[in-house]
Amino acid sequence: MKIDALKIFKNQGEKITCLTAYDASFASVFDKCGVDIILVGDSLGNVIKGDENTLGVSMNDMLYHTQVVAKVTNQALLISDMPYQSYTSAKQTLENAKYLMNAGAQMVKFEGGHEHESSFQILQDNNIPVCGHLGLQPQSVVEMGGYKVQGKGEGDAQRILKDAKALEAWGVKTIVLECIPAKLGKKISQSLNIPTIGIGAGVNCDGQVLVGYDMLGITQNPPKFVKNFLTSGSIVSATNDFIQAVKNQTFPTDEHSFKSV
Ligand code: KIV
Repeated sequence: MKIDALKIFKNQGEKITCLTAYDASFASVFDKCGVDIILVGDSLGNVIKGDENTLGVSMNDMLYHTQVVAKVTNQALLISDMPYQSYTSAKQTLENAKYLMNAGAQMVKFEGGHEHESSFQILQDNNIPVCGHLGLQPQSVVEMGGYKVQGKGEGDAQRILKDAKALEAWGVKTIVLECIPAKLGKKISQSLNIPTIGIGAGVNCDGQVLVGYDMLGITQNPPKFVKNFLTSGSIVSATNDFIQAVKNQTFPTDEHSFKSV
């Protein structure tokens, strides 16, 4: 997928599919199955390194996994996460984003809104494509008091919507919305010209992302928004089923979504 296709998909009402991958074998399967985006997520802290959260993921980790995934990603758009504390100033953001792009990423993603205005702007000025990440921000799990649904109250919902609009104005190409009520996911998606990609944000986002291992049922005690697509058959058929379910909007259902207060 080319970056320009993101808006075309949104305008045509075609849902965008995204899976995380961290190694060449899974990335190659997902790419060949035709997933639109492969995300080298900092969730590798949990699923590869066995940590409780993503805070211990380093730039070196992200560079290594981006390089191996990039080798086999031919048709999907490759996005890489900027890890914890790798975008604390505009200068540092630009430097680290350039490293990820040189490692093979076609876009970088980082968490947060208005507090990172200078980082969003320096990447826009330097033509580095950015994916935002609002709602539950796993790198702020301590400040957020755990992995909790965000934007349930009106004030919080308005704050997330305002951040989403600011990110669009700062040239962000797409925004991941994590763990917010489905109603808010729909409202934000309808308020923007750029596509949203939801994870626990309801079926009305413009696309859906899952951690690849969650989609394959490997994760113990998965969150509510996860569906195991590998109930029978192969990894290839599970991946195809995920893609089809997102495209025809049979995933996520209410069972995988959250309500406002
Ligand atoms: O790191 C990751 O896997 C992510 C997804 C949850 C979107 O950011």
